[in-house]
Amino acid sequence: MSKKFKRTTVTAALPYANGPLHIGHIAGAYLPSDIYVRYLRLKGEDVIYVCGSDEHGVAIQIGARKEGVTPRAFVDKYHELMKQTFRSFGISFDIYSRTSKPIHYQTAQDFFTNIYRKGILREETSEQYFDEQEGIFLADRYIVGTCPVCGYERAYGDQCEKCGSSLSPKQLLNPRSAVSGKAPVLRPTRHWYFPLDEFESWLREWLLKGHAHDWKTNVYGQCKSWIEQGLQARSITRDMDWGVPVPLPDAEGKVLYVWFDAPIGYISATRELKGDDWEKYWKDPETRLIHFIGKDNIVFHCIIFPAMLKAEGSFILPDNVPANEFLNLEGDKISTSRNHAVWLHEYLNDFPGRRDELRYVLTSIAPETKDADFTWKDYQQRVNSELVGILGNFVNRVLVLTGKYFNHAIPALGHAGAISVRLENTWQDINTELNRSIAAMLAALDEFRFREAQFQMMNIARLGNKWLADTEPWKRHAENEAESAFILNRALCITATLAVACEPFLPDTAAKIREQLNAGKWLEAKAADFWKSGELVVPEQGTSVQQKPQLLFLPVPDEDIEKQLAKLRKKDTAMQQNNHVSIKPAKEQVTIDDFLKLDIRVGKVLTAERVEKSNKLLKLLVDTGLDQRIILSGIAQHFAPEEMVGKTVTLVVNLAPRKMMGIESQGMILTAEGPDGKLYLLRPDGEAGPGAMIS
Ligand code: 2FM
Ligand code: ZN
Repeated sequence: MSKKFKRTTVTAALPYANGPLHIGHIAGAYLPSDIYVRYLRLKGEDVIYVCGSDEHGVAIQIGARKEGVTPRAFVDKYHELMKQTFRSFGISFDIYSRTSKPIHYQTAQDFFTNIYRKGILREETSEQYFDEQEGIFLADRYIVGTCPVCGYERAYGDQCEKCGSSLSPKQLLNPRSAVSGKAPVLRPTRHWYFPLDEFESWLREWLLKGHAHDWKTNVYGQCKSWIEQGLQARSITRDMDWGVPVPLPDAEGKVLYVWFDAPIGYISATRELKGDDWEKYWKDPETRLIHFIGKDNIVFHCIIFPAMLKAEGSFILPDNVPANEFLNLEGDKISTSRNHAVWLHEYLNDFPGRRDELRYVLTSIAPETKDADFTWKDYQQRVNSELVGILGNFVNRVLVLTGKYFNHAIPALGHAGAISVRLENTWQDINTELNRSIAAMLAALDEFRFREAQFQMMNIARLGNKWLADTEPWKRHAENEAESAFILNRALCITATLAVACEPFLPDTAAKIREQLNAGKWLEAKAADFWKSGELVVPEQGTSVQQKPQLLFLPVPDEDIEKQLAKLRKKDTAMQQNNHVSIKPAKEQVTIDDFLKLDIRVGKVLTAERVEKSNKLLKLLVDTGLDQRIILSGIAQHFAPEEMVGKTVTLVVNLAPRKMMGIESQGMILTAEGPDGKLYLLRPDGEAGPGAMIS
């Protein structure tokens, strides 16, 4: 038996203020939460819907550095862009705040202080990698090096993406900073740790036992496997100058870890929205807390944040976390760095007046249980055959017929006896189906199954079309006006029901249908009954509907889709060119004798240094097996000198010496260019020492 709640607090993941929003963000957290909140509001429930920009963390710091601006200027730019885009798309947050506001600093610091004072946090000093050139401690993701398991040279400090091993930064061989390319040094630093391990048995009880049946299986499964791998204390502070300062007297240069402060951002946003009245949305056990997120945020929202709330002690815990899986685009992962995305602000520009079309398609394919794929052809097909062909077509036909036969006035239902039993029975069948669809839609909305809910809403329109097709009022009107009045009255009832039912999914369309029905107060009163008990919305007879109803949707022409596909191809090509992976044309043919003239050998780098006034060249002293010689190599932007020392290389040893920057180079090191423009050394795949010949 589900518990009765007085109110609901709905949160949507705070997006990082480091780039524009794309359709993956929308399909993941914002559209489902918006549908849900609109539904609760329509039911007359007390609900708040909070979100805002997540403005801290290393990603922001690095992003700002790349753009050559301060983190403040960086987040200001993206916060405004995201806020504006959400507004233009019609996501109905009650507040869209940001974590760089003083109210958030205060809230996050109070939270930290409360758990600190309870003696929950552990303080520990450990050695962490420090980038001396940049003057920063490096987050695990910003340390790259050679994987100790598979030898991949671009493994991250937390994971090798080649072999999948989980790593810690100190396991990497040849570690270097992803920020400066330099080898980092280990420095001791003091931090505060949240003892997640101490919450394990509580989490097993509250989450694994308590939510085994009401949480989505993708969410529950991820949590279960995480808990079963064993929980460890997690550092909740960082050495940085951008973030919420740690509120302790001896903590200069330390800020709260972004994943500690960000979820508290939901609480800060509520305080900003509700003033003194905020607490009931977070502390009253009769409030239900729901977090909408994407799957990469599951562990933080289902395990870490609840443990933080539990530790603090005065807050409620999430009742549900209906996380979605990922949305792909044209069969490939959406990628900000590769610019493989449909950016929401660009969509809104390219398709003015078509917000509902995107909402519809994204909900139809929502990645609720597994990853889904957005393709432009599918978008076109769904808009044209479903929105235009089913919903738009039905509403338009009803209004045109009402105009034609009843001078645009909603006809009376007629009295019993004037209508044939057969027609009555046909209506009873349709009515039963309508009630079934409405009940299924409401149940799906309650269970966060929005794809199904929208499908059932569209079923109302499908049944409307069936009603008209089965009863053919255009054939009856001349002989039996009472029957055509009955048919159109019922069709208008389906139309009014649609005006109400489609609102959470297609708010612009709902407004258009109401306008076309000239729906006044009568509809508002009946809408409340619809959302409470699923009753059909019976129109007020005699009301005049609009004389020249506009089509609700227009077909998306092929050219529009071609343009979008071309835009994506252009992006991909531009990225490839930026990434220097364009394949160069083949060179002229040579004979084996030509090739054998080259003396290519294995060598070992003995010393390495930068060449003064050159940002490209490294001066290497190489043991070739034949001798030790100086070789200049254009790899300074890819390897730090100290990284090269001791490395095995291959080199052409009989190349005529060449002078560069006043230094003579006696050979050439062989490299290959990666898709990211980085140069990689060509090296023997096994034991081959200096002097070994390449043939
Ligand atoms: O993944 C992200 O974009 C994070 N900024 C989500 C944070 S959600 C919450 F904790 F604020
Ligand atoms: Zn590996």
